[in-house]
Amino acid sequence: MINKKVVMITGASKGLGRALTLAFANEGARLAICSRSSKGLDEVKAEAEALGAEVLAVTADISISRDVERFVAIAEEKYGRIDVLVNNASILGPSPMPLLLDYPEKDFEEVLRVNAVSPFLVTRRVIPGMLQRNHGSIINVTSEAGHVGYAGWGAYGISKFAVEGLTQTWADELSSTNVRVNMVDPGEMDTEMHRLAVPDCDYQLAKPEDVVGVFLYLASDKSFGVSGQRFEAQEWRED
Ligand SMILES: NC(=O)c1ccc[n+]([C@@H]2O[C@H](COP(=O)([O-])OP(=O)(O)OC[C@H]3O[C@@H](n4cnc5c(N)ncnc54)[C@H](OP(=O)(O)O)[C@@H]3O)[C@@H](O)[C@H]2O)c1
Repeated sequence: MINKKVVMITGASKGLGRALTLAFANEGARLAICSRSSKGLDEVKAEAEALGAEVLAVTADISISRDVERFVAIAEEKYGRIDVLVNNASILGPSPMPLLLDYPEKDFEEVLRVNAVSPFLVTRRVIPGMLQRNHGSIINVTSEAGHVGYAGWGAYGISKFAVEGLTQTWADELSSTNVRVNMVDPGEMDTEMHRLAVPDCDYQLAKPEDVVGVFLYLASDKSFGVSGQRFEAQEWRED
């Protein structure tokens, strides 16, 4: 069902983005991936190519409009279309995370820019092509901290509340089309971001590879008609 679809994933050099890239590569997708640094990104590209996938890897900071334009334009030129967009890239902000009372304004703005403004920018750039074909799936990555406000999760949690709002608003604006917008909370996973957020974590975490199933479902035509929904990846089971 994914075979030959063009899947764009932001923040693919490590963690969940890497796991998603390899999972989609296994399903025969053609991939466009990015991260700010080439560190890790080239290795992920090589790993996905070893699985037989075609991969475009671009260093781009998706919080900068001209980088978004460049990344999407190169991908559209190479593949002629984008079928699926996973807005995965995100930053935590300062570690340890300050309480709001002490949260530096510059860091607050940066976290909101990367985590909330960037998915708006990438989605807005990708959607016209999807509307032309009246077909597409956008998957935003949210968090439990974007659903319930927790002390100490500061700008990160607030940015994920914005991602939830973005998802619902895009889905409603596109409700008369076959361009679908959903969100996935992957749950806690053993990644660099989690190690920064919870350095003294003493319980077993899921691996990013464990949570990819719902993303494959939302990218596939099996989820045709599903839009504006929130999924918890570690609870999700395909019927
Ligand atoms: N880990 C968890 O427990 C957990 C729980 C709930 C939700 N999430 C969410 O799951 C997603 C993946 O998290 P993760 O734990 O895999 O994070 P991660 O290991 O820190 O990876 C983040 C990725 O995003 C890229 N990135 C960051 N800022 C970027 C920018 N401005 N432009 C382009 N790429 C950028 C990073 O590469 P560069 O630094 O090179 O740019 C990296 O590839 C995030 O949306 C996160 O909020 C994670």
